[in-house]
Amino acid sequence: MKSLLWTPFLLSLALATAIPRDAKVDYNGYKVLRIELPKDVVGVEAQINDLAAHILNPGKGKQLDVVVSPDNIDSITELAVNSTIIADDIGEAFAEEGEFASYAVPSETWFTAYHSYNDHLQFLRDLQGGFAGQSEIITAGTSVQGRALTGIHIWGSGGKGSKPAVLFHGTVHAREWISTMAVEYMAWQLLTKYSTDASVKAVVDKFDFYIMPVVNPDGFVYSQTTDRLWRKNRQTVSSSSCVGRDINRNWPYKWEVPGGASTNPCSETFKGLAPGDAPENKGLVAQVNQLRDLRGIRLYLDIHSYGQYILWPYGYNCNLQPENAAAHRSLASAAASAISAVSGTRYTIGPACSTLYATTGDSTDYTDVTGQATYSYTYELRDTGRYGFSLPASQIQATVRETWAGVLSMLRSA
Ligand code: ARG
Ligand code: ZN
Repeated sequence: MKSLLWTPFLLSLALATAIPRDAKVDYNGYKVLRIELPKDVVGVEAQINDLAAHILNPGKGKQLDVVVSPDNIDSITELAVNSTIIADDIGEAFAEEGEFASYAVPSETWFTAYHSYNDHLQFLRDLQGGFAGQSEIITAGTSVQGRALTGIHIWGSGGKGSKPAVLFHGTVHAREWISTMAVEYMAWQLLTKYSTDASVKAVVDKFDFYIMPVVNPDGFVYSQTTDRLWRKNRQTVSSSSCVGRDINRNWPYKWEVPGGASTNPCSETFKGLAPGDAPENKGLVAQVNQLRDLRGIRLYLDIHSYGQYILWPYGYNCNLQPENAAAHRSLASAAASAISAVSGTRYTIGPACSTLYATTGDSTDYTDVTGQATYSYTYELRDTGRYGFSLPASQIQATVRETWAGVLSMLRSA
């Protein structure tokens, strides 16, 4: 670790981490069930919410993946019409994620282990330092607990800020750790391959890249210290003891439309009290608007896990697609082929609401309409549920490489 200057940023970080925290949640013996709910039975959903420790894919999809303590298994299976066990002991799966690697200067081995939040920040600083002539560290506002939303801006031969923007957001949902790694790999590839790979040079010379590996730093830290399955930010509301807004339900576009988010602060998809009232969203909204006004946004990617999907707008309405939906489909289809050519991993592509489930106040609806991005996609990376969020460390490299192939294919045609 390099020596640290005692900046206000680090001071607030130290204060934030000094808050006494709860004991780490022990998930040993907890199972993951994939359940189907009976239709039109009032109250079942609320009961599932109470009985499940976490819902892994909250939304009105066909099936729900729920994490359940041994004590609640029977009650949950009685409520469902169908249920299968997809993980017998999620505590054991967490062990397969591997230990955090101690920090070493960026190299390909970075992508063989998961890392602490502070090491992710150091990775960005070191990467930037290695390519100081064509990159700089950027921030987009501040989290609830005072952490700067930190990323890297990369440019090519046209010079800083001269081209249309490509914007990548990672780790919106705290528990989706593979997202952090995949987004960092994109920055890593763009910079380390620039001088040797003509197709990389071509895209770096064509766009200005704004790459944010962790846009939910408080949630991410909490998922590492306390609850591995934490999803939301760490914002409180006076009306409830439950914590957290879903950053991907808080964007100020069609936020008010019912059905794609929750008004209950205890839900995994709590939308907040007003559009854009999460500090993280304020910073990200300003970033999107600024890039729109500067050179326009050509491509926006919001990288999540899991499910293996490439989705385009809209989330808020299952009957609507952008006017360039055909172009969205064609880039997504080429990306899915590029991914499967690397490793055989199969992706499902389609408009977000009808392909997965409805979401309101989500990022890609905002970037498409208000941000006027030419292309906006949500990626859901590996896997389809066997490991879910706790993808083993042994799968990180294969996942980030295939994802990069998909993303590069999009960049070349965008
Ligand atoms: N799984 C992510 C979420 O729940 C992405 C959703 C993408 N949009 C959608 N309408 N399915 O936030
Ligand atoms: Zn997510």
